[in-house]
Amino acid sequence: MQSVVITGAGRGIGRAIAEAFHARGDRVAIIDQKKTDTPCALFFEGDVGRKDDLEAFARACMKQFDQVDVLVNNAMETKGGYPDCGWEDFLHAQAVGVAAPYYLTTLLAPRFAQGASVINISSTRAFQSQRGTESYTAAKGGITALTHALAMSLAGKARVNAIAPGWIDTTGSTFAGPDAGQHPVGRVGVPQDIVQAVLFLCAEQASFITGQVLNVDGGMSKRMIYHGDEGWALT
Ligand SMILES: NC(=O)c1ccc[n+]([C@@H]2O[C@H](COP(=O)([O-])OP(=O)(O)OC[C@H]3O[C@@H](n4cnc5c(N)ncnc54)[C@H](O)[C@@H]3O)[C@@H](O)[C@H]2O)c1
Repeated sequence: MQSVVITGAGRGIGRAIAEAFHARGDRVAIIDQKKTDTPCALFFEGDVGRKDDLEAFARACMKQFDQVDVLVNNAMETKGGYPDCGWEDFLHAQAVGVAAPYYLTTLLAPRFAQGASVINISSTRAFQSQRGTESYTAAKGGITALTHALAMSLAGKARVNAIAPGWIDTTGSTFAGPDAGQHPVGRVGVPQDIVQAVLFLCAEQASFITGQVLNVDGGMSKRMIYHGDEGWALT
């Protein structure tokens, strides 16, 4: 039985990750800004963008668990980008998306078990962009670089890897036609795609992998499209 800490597990991908560990018999601690019925040993209502909340959550985790085997830094919220995102919103996105993963990792590191794993949830938006997404994209670039930096600082104590999801539908909708077909694998992603990547990266089988980013995007970020390709035209 392992002890697993997950941020933002109230819904979506974080919830699916929490459910997977819980189903394995692991003990899960969650922080989310909204109350949730996600199965867990410890739920803490708080904002990871607030230092005090992170410190209180880390204390609660250390009271609940003697050691921490897995930390999944998943919580994120977008504040848009140019031209509407202002100073406070931009900084808040960086607090939630970069500072919180860094600070929570440092708070819990003294309790990391032998062979512990940190998994940072990034995004393919760390590497490519749509307009008006600067606050989110900068945070995802930050958490991606943070991953290899922490992998060096925590070498011998924990492996640190990131997952960069592409389009992951968290609503249970069905997508066909171009939405699905634009992905080289022919479908939109589901939370289980990310769950499987998390379980792999924190398993013993992945013990030679640290400081890496695993893109889980159905190959979408590898597709190059020019005007006239694949039936697409710039109009
Ligand atoms: N869904 C996608 O297509 C997709 C693609 C790429 C990356 N991601 C990344 O995957 C992760 C999960 O995405 P999702 O789609 O499940 O998100 P979501 O918005 O469905 O769920 C996010 C969860 O985090 C919580 N949360 C948000 N801000 C918080 C804060 N400040 N403090 C505490 N809890 C907070 C929310 O309450 C919610 O429960 C995020 O890091 C996101 O950037 C998602």
